Amino acid sequence: MFQAETFHDSPPRRRTRGATRRLALVGVIALAACSPKRPFTDAEAAARAQSTLAPFKTELARTLASALARGPDDAIDACATRAPELAREASKDGVRVGRASDRRRNPDNAVPSWAGAAVADLARAPRDGEHRVVGLPGGRAGYVETITVKAMCLTCHGEAVAPPIAARIAARYPNDAATGFREGDMRGVFWVELPAKP
Ligand code: HEC
Repeated sequence: MFQAETFHDSPPRRRTRGATRRLALVGVIALAACSPKRPFTDAEAAARAQSTLAPFKTELARTLASALARGPDDAIDACATRAPELAREASKDGVRVGRASDRRRNPDNAVPSWAGAAVADLARAPRDGEHRVVGLPGGRAGYVETITVKAMCLTCHGEAVAPPIAARIAARYPNDAATGFREGDMRGVFWVELPAKP
């Protein structure tokens, strides 16, 4: 009786073990698929952010230089319309790009909340192009890079902005806080938000 029972019991128990193993395997695969993606290393995030920023920076500089050649009025208009457009154009495939400053002209250019501490850190000893990488939830990454003031920026961001230019800026940006800078000061940052690695 005992032997018979054992004999009849065995195959179902084996099937159960096999099924349990299969279930466990499915569980492990499902968990692996749902678990957070492997995060970026700082070097990977910086490389991706910098390659995204490169064409944005080139295009910004080109727009500003050619607009300034036509006169500061044109340049203010170019900065006002083209700078946000260029940031939108550079933001694709889940990547977001922008310029930000604590002393800003356009209220839309506030520092993203994830970047606050990194920007404060960069501001302690600002060097042009210096960057910080910030880990974000879900395997995403943030990147910020210092923008410093050069001589040509003083026309519109300096301590002595010519009255007609100041008037033009004030008309467009009534809450402008982006004047009074000196060459070498930290003007703000370029920032990039990267989606999680595929
Ligand atoms: C002809 C005037 C002009 C010159 C020259 C100029 N800017 Fe600006 N800048 C502007 C205007 C206008 C805005 C607001 C653009 C917007 O609406 O996004 C701006 C915005 C910015 C911002 C975004 C943060 C904010 O304050 O809204 C940064 C950063 C910035 N400028 C840096 C620079 C730097 C660096 C230079 C020199 C390489 C420079 N600018 C030269 C007019 C100028």
